[in-house]
Amino acid sequence: MKIEYFPEDLQEFLVPSPAGGLGYNCLKCGKIHPPKKLYYTCPDCGGLLLLEDAREDRLKERPGKFWRRLFDYRRMLNLQPLRGIFTFHEFLAPLIPVEDIVYLGEGHTPLVAAPEDLSREVGATLFIKHDGQNPSASFKDRGMAAALSYLKYIIRTQNLSDVLAVCASTGDTSAAAALYSAALGSQIKSAVLLPKGKVTLPQLSQPLGAGAKVFELPGVFDDCMKVVEYLSDHYEVALLNSKNPWRVLGQESYAYELAQQFDYELGDLALFVPVGNAGNITAIMSGLMKMKRYGVIETLPKIVAVQSSHADPVFRYYSQLESDRVYKPVTVRPSVAQAAMIGDPVSFPRVQKMVEEYNKAAEEGRFFAVQVREQAIMDNMIAVNRSGLTVCTQGGEGVAGVREALKLGILAHGDKAVVDSTAHALKFAEFQSAYFEDKLDEGYEVRAKAELVNRPVDISPAGVPLPAAGETQSPEDRAAYVSAAASDIANALGLKAR
Ligand SMILES: Cc1ncc(COP(=O)(O)O)c(C=O)c1O
Ligand SMILES: [Zn+2]
Repeated sequence: MKIEYFPEDLQEFLVPSPAGGLGYNCLKCGKIHPPKKLYYTCPDCGGLLLLEDAREDRLKERPGKFWRRLFDYRRMLNLQPLRGIFTFHEFLAPLIPVEDIVYLGEGHTPLVAAPEDLSREVGATLFIKHDGQNPSASFKDRGMAAALSYLKYIIRTQNLSDVLAVCASTGDTSAAAALYSAALGSQIKSAVLLPKGKVTLPQLSQPLGAGAKVFELPGVFDDCMKVVEYLSDHYEVALLNSKNPWRVLGQESYAYELAQQFDYELGDLALFVPVGNAGNITAIMSGLMKMKRYGVIETLPKIVAVQSSHADPVFRYYSQLESDRVYKPVTVRPSVAQAAMIGDPVSFPRVQKMVEEYNKAAEEGRFFAVQVREQAIMDNMIAVNRSGLTVCTQGGEGVAGVREALKLGILAHGDKAVVDSTAHALKFAEFQSAYFEDKLDEGYEVRAKAELVNRPVDISPAGVPLPAAGETQSPEDRAAYVSAAASDIANALGLKAR
């Protein structure tokens, strides 16, 4: 919609100008560093960073209703950079000028209510937020759009050149990093480190297709992460892992969008988030709290972290008594929720801080962590995908989490639950195939349930000439084949002849 068609009182606010006082806040020593450089860790003490806005209180100059109206109207503005995560520019990354925003179509992903039958069977009013419907087919594009917009901004303003962006990945970060780096053309080159054999074929093809240098290393993600950390400590590289606080900042957009999709009424919801490095859940809590501080929402929803019993350090931490909680990395076992198969989450100190603040802001315990079994992840993914929805294995993990939360009394029967389906189902189709063939390696501890298995039926009728690629059948052979194949299919389907 053209600017002159918007309500007059909003017109001057539709396209934001850079503002605020964003800075790197060190979680260890408490120092604040100005955002002139890309830092991954505190330059003084090596601590983990979060980006915080020292002048955030300027948002208080306007009531929550103003922000709600502005964001809702901005949805109709056809200005590319503001169509995605930067619809919420003032709350997200007000430092970045609109001209530097990299927009590839990320964000504003569909929120879909599950069919009633599925909700009834699960026992909750279920919604799926399809974050696999992002350009590189996972939620990681949210954080990558923020990180690359910032990089573009400093490359332009500081005349940087020959930037090399690197990341380690369970498959989705590398796909997003390679895609967004490619969008910056010759300004930036990218390299990704992957655990060999521990990412799916589509995930491997993505960075290759986007022109990134791809390195396959032994071990699991946690091992690749150590190598990337060493690289970023000893060489001039731009780290695109979620250690990079710009990534976490961008992922806050999930919370803003969800609020908008529920007309800013979130108090009766429980949000289910599959957790690996814990960057996403940190960002979601941070975004929700920001909205509450400035009256955009009134009540914080419940947040439920979901982890597989094969990779569950966050669950283990929160299942200890509060007084004697000790964080211990775990050695992961094979998980079908492979993208979240992380034993030593990079963002653990961030999530710890957020949970504490979240429960305080909500004035009661609103954060929960649940653990689910690999079998439940697969069974739920397949069952949900038979209901007009498309979830990946991590989405299946989320739905398994909803069932677990119902069992534990975190949710009451019929409560509303929103599952973040973090990647596109097709990226993880090989787990579905292996399940249908009942060939998942023993380590996964998953067996196919006959009622969920679906396999192609081979039609190759006997006694008639079969068509073959590159050959043309005679009309008689063709007619014989077509009627025999149709008859086999009709038998298989139990069709009655007309
Ligand atoms: C599809 C998918 N789901 C979930 C996760 C876990 O998210 P986070 O690492 O932010 O906890 C990841 C990546 O780690 C992922 O790629
Ligand atoms: Zn520090």
